[in-house]
Amino acid sequence: MSDTQNMSVNQPPRQDGNGKKGAGKCMLSRREFLLTSGTAVATVMVVMNAGTADAEEVPGLVATYPRKLIAKLSELKVDEPIDFTYPDDGAYSDSIVVKLGTRAGGGIGPQTDVVAFNNTCTHQGGPLSGTYKGDTKSLGACPLHLSTYDLTRHGILISGQAYQSLPQVLLELDGDDIYAVGVFGLIFGRYDNLQG
Ligand code: FES
Repeated sequence: MSDTQNMSVNQPPRQDGNGKKGAGKCMLSRREFLLTSGTAVATVMVVMNAGTADAEEVPGLVATYPRKLIAKLSELKVDEPIDFTYPDDGAYSDSIVVKLGTRAGGGIGPQTDVVAFNNTCTHQGGPLSGTYKGDTKSLGACPLHLSTYDLTRHGILISGQAYQSLPQVLLELDGDDIYAVGVFGLIFGRYDNLQG
């Protein structure tokens, strides 16, 4: 995907249908996932003086997610997460990339089983580091109130107090290199993922 695209800010946001689109199992298609994540947008056309005779479209720059090398596909082992930070090194940026060994929503690689997620519970910010479970392909239980997230289905909540899915880090594969290029969902503690 190009780093620069034009789009209208008046376009309605795409809805994920409460996670019920795609295969009917809370699995978005790759295309839906890319579109919904809203990543890699550097230039937008902004309508100035909308609704008046002076209305005009002008280009406006917006912040974009960085493209960050986080791992080598060949070095990943099933059920062994690797830590990284994204989209910056600020608060609540801790994340993991993991090869699940089973097909996953938003997954990359030959088996579409490599996914990445922010590592902070969406409920009240409990640390999820070290809680990955290979037998259930889940993250949790959160040490504070036991929320657990399904990493095969875009981080949807399995059980516990949280009511938002775990933010999924959008990945791209370039040869053997895995890049983080965006985040699907709001990271705990931030009003904007790019304002760490
Ligand atoms: S902070 Fe994780 S369940 Fe409450």
